[in-house]
Amino acid sequence: MSETILVTGGTGTLGSVVAERLLGDGRAVRVLSRRPAPARTPYAWRTGDLKTGAGIAEATEGVDTIVHCASNSTGGGDVAATRKLIETTRGAHLVYISIVGIDKIPFFYYKAKLETERLIEGSGLPWTILRATQFHDLVLGFTKAQLRLPVTFTLKGRFQPVDVREVADRLVELALGQPAGRVPDMGGPEVRDSAELARAYLAAVGRSRPVVPVSLPGKAARAFRAGANLAPEHAVGKVTFERYLAERGS
Ligand SMILES: NC(=O)c1ccc[n+]([C@@H]2O[C@H](COP(=O)([O-])OP(=O)(O)OC[C@H]3O[C@@H](n4cnc5c(N)ncnc54)[C@H](OP(=O)(O)O)[C@@H]3O)[C@@H](O)[C@H]2O)c1
Repeated sequence: MSETILVTGGTGTLGSVVAERLLGDGRAVRVLSRRPAPARTPYAWRTGDLKTGAGIAEATEGVDTIVHCASNSTGGGDVAATRKLIETTRGAHLVYISIVGIDKIPFFYYKAKLETERLIEGSGLPWTILRATQFHDLVLGFTKAQLRLPVTFTLKGRFQPVDVREVADRLVELALGQPAGRVPDMGGPEVRDSAELARAYLAAVGRSRPVVPVSLPGKAARAFRAGANLAPEHAVGKVTFERYLAERGS
């Protein structure tokens, strides 16, 4: 019987590419989402909610591997959600996507990610954790949201954005391999100033406006400015921000 792989967050930016790649590789892919199954889906769809636990036992039943991409960056609850996932899982290899620098940047979302990592490490399940730098999509989303303003604000600091397709490829490789514990971090090809990235987007869409780097107070912002979100020694991604913009037609 072929191996069954569950992708939590299989409708999200990263998870949807992971699920697509696994399916393309001929794997039996199950997707967990809070939404009902679409009219047509190539996946074994499971509707469930990691927050309430509804449908999670059915989603995890009989799976060999779980690629855990579900997350809620606004509402929190990722730690409790992962605990529910672990409690209902019997022996599956748990592959988790985390973020570079979460142990150095005291930001509430990162604290939850660190706690989630520790939960997985102590779960008794076979596990693999990959930390990646920010996705191009995040940098783009932030800049795009401000297009109606007369100026574009950026968080003073640097990013090393990585292409989500490359992160998905690495996660698939890890999901199909043996549990590996914490694997080397993964970063995009270039460390760039945040203002420079915002200008690259504005240029790609033919807009010009002042870009204003904002220096926020607090330890988290300071750690970010010091480059704790970067992994220059693991600049393994190949797709630059400009190439990403060109490929998606901005
Ligand atoms: N974005 C970045 O720059 C970045 C960088 C490094 C690592 N990461 C990590 O990569 C992961 C994926 O990020 P992303 O940007 O792809 O996220 P995303 O697009 O916001 O997707 C979040 C996913 O989580 C699912 N979800 C949320 N709450 C849920 C719940 N209670 N029960 C079940 N599913 C739930 C959503 O599914 P439904 O809405 O269909 O239910 C959705 O598919 C996260 O762990 C994030 O920390 C992100």
